[in-house]
Amino acid sequence: MSSTVQAELVCFEASCRERFAITDVLYNCPKCGGLIEATYSGARPSAGEMRDLFRQRRLSNAPLDTSGVWRYRELFPFLNDHGRVVTLREGNTPLLDAPLAAQYGGLDQITFKHQGFNPTGSFKDNGMTCGASQARRLGMKRVACVSTGNTSASMAAYAAAAGLEALIFLPHGNISFGKLAQALEYGARTLEVEANFDEILALVRVLAERLGIYLLNSMNPFRVEGQKSIIFEMLDQRDWNPPDWIVLPGGNLGNTSAFGKGLREARELGLIAKMPRLAVIQADGAAPFYEMFHKGGELHPVTNPETLATAIRIGDPVSWPKALHEVRSSCGTVEKVTEQEIADAKAMIGRAGIGCEPASAATLAGIRKLTAAGVIRKDADVVAALTGNVLKDPDYIYKYHTGKLETPSGAKIRSTFGNQPIVVPNDADRIAALLQ
Ligand code: F0G
Repeated sequence: MSSTVQAELVCFEASCRERFAITDVLYNCPKCGGLIEATYSGARPSAGEMRDLFRQRRLSNAPLDTSGVWRYRELFPFLNDHGRVVTLREGNTPLLDAPLAAQYGGLDQITFKHQGFNPTGSFKDNGMTCGASQARRLGMKRVACVSTGNTSASMAAYAAAAGLEALIFLPHGNISFGKLAQALEYGARTLEVEANFDEILALVRVLAERLGIYLLNSMNPFRVEGQKSIIFEMLDQRDWNPPDWIVLPGGNLGNTSAFGKGLREARELGLIAKMPRLAVIQADGAAPFYEMFHKGGELHPVTNPETLATAIRIGDPVSWPKALHEVRSSCGTVEKVTEQEIADAKAMIGRAGIGCEPASAATLAGIRKLTAAGVIRKDADVVAALTGNVLKDPDYIYKYHTGKLETPSGAKIRSTFGNQPIVVPNDADRIAALLQ
C-alpha cells in the first residue's frame, strides 16, 4: 500500500488559490483575505484499501486506531509525524435510530449521528484533536479561542492533555453553565468578555497576532480537517452507503464546511458513489446564512444575534464562503427555526431516550419544516447530526419542563412536552395513591 502524500495550505477563494506551506500559521490568505484550507496531492491508498484498513483498525488497541478521528488519518494526512498527536479517543460516536423523532420530523425513519458522545460532550473534539496536534507540531506554547462554550470546553481539555496553556474568551453571561464549568475544570485561563461572540472573535484575532498565540477557532484549517472525520465515521458505520440528506445546525459554519469537504473528498477518492445533500438549520434570531442563501448576495451580519440555543448565537459566521460552496455543490438547503420549535424538537429527542443540547435540536425542528414543505421526502434516508450532549445545558431543560422557559425577548415558551417533577411527602400510602 503506497502513500506519498504532500500536504499544503491553499486559499479557498477560486480567484486566488495562493499556496502556502502546511506549517505556516495562517487563518486567512495574506494576499486576498480568503479562508484557508488544507489540500493533498500525490498517491494515496485505493478506496478499497482504505476501507479495509479503517475496518481492520477497529480490532487494534493502538491509541491512534482507537480514536474515531485518527482511524481515518489517510483522509487528512497533514502530519509528517503522528508521534505528536494528542488524543482523548474522540469520535467513536454512535448512529442511533429514533422512530419517535422520525415521526415528529415527518419521516419514516431517521438516524442521529450523536457527537455528544465525545470526550467533552460535543463534535468539537473531532476537530480539536487535529488542531491541538498541529499546535504541538508547530512548537506552540499557548492556544486560544473565543467560544459559545463547546469549542472552549474541548480546547481546554486537549490543551491540558497536550501540555499547552489554554486561553479562553467567552461572551459573558451567554454560555451555559455546564460548558463554562468544563473550561474551569480542565484548567484553562478563562476570560469572560462583555461582548458577543462576533465582537470577541475580532478581539482575539488581534491578541493572537500581538501575543503570538495559536488560534483554535474553526477558521483554523486543521480543526476543519478533523471534523471531516464525523462524515468518514458515519459513512464507515453505514458501509460507505451515503444517505440522501445530512442535516446539521449552523452557527459559525465551520462544521458545514467540514462536512461538505469531507463528502467531496470521499467522492473524489472513490469511497462513495454519490453526494448526499446538506441541510443547514439556523435559529431564527441568528440566521444570516439562511437570509443570504435565500435572498442571494453577500452575507449581512446580524448585529444582535439572539437565541436560547447559545451554541449557535452567532451573527457574523466566518466560514460562510466555504459553507455556501458546500451547500450549493451538494444541492442542499438552509432552513431556520423558532425558539419554540427548537424547544419542542429537543424534548422529542429526549423522549426518544437520546437527548441533546438546544442547538443540536434545531436539526429535528428543521427536518419537520423541510418535510412539511416537501423539500425532504417522507421516505428519504436522513442522518441528522446531534452536535452536543444533553447535559451541556440542564438549566434550559429544567425550565422547559417546568413551564419557566422564555425566549430572549421574554415571550413564554410553551412546555408542549413538559414533564414536571412532583414533590411528595415521605408517605407510602399517599405516594401509592398518587401512582394508582
Ligand atoms: N452545535 C453546537 C452544540 C455547537 O457548539 C456549535 C458551535 C454548533 C452547533 C454550530 O457549529 O459553528 O461549526 O456552525 N459552537 C461554537 C463554539 C461556535 O464556540 O463552541 P458551527
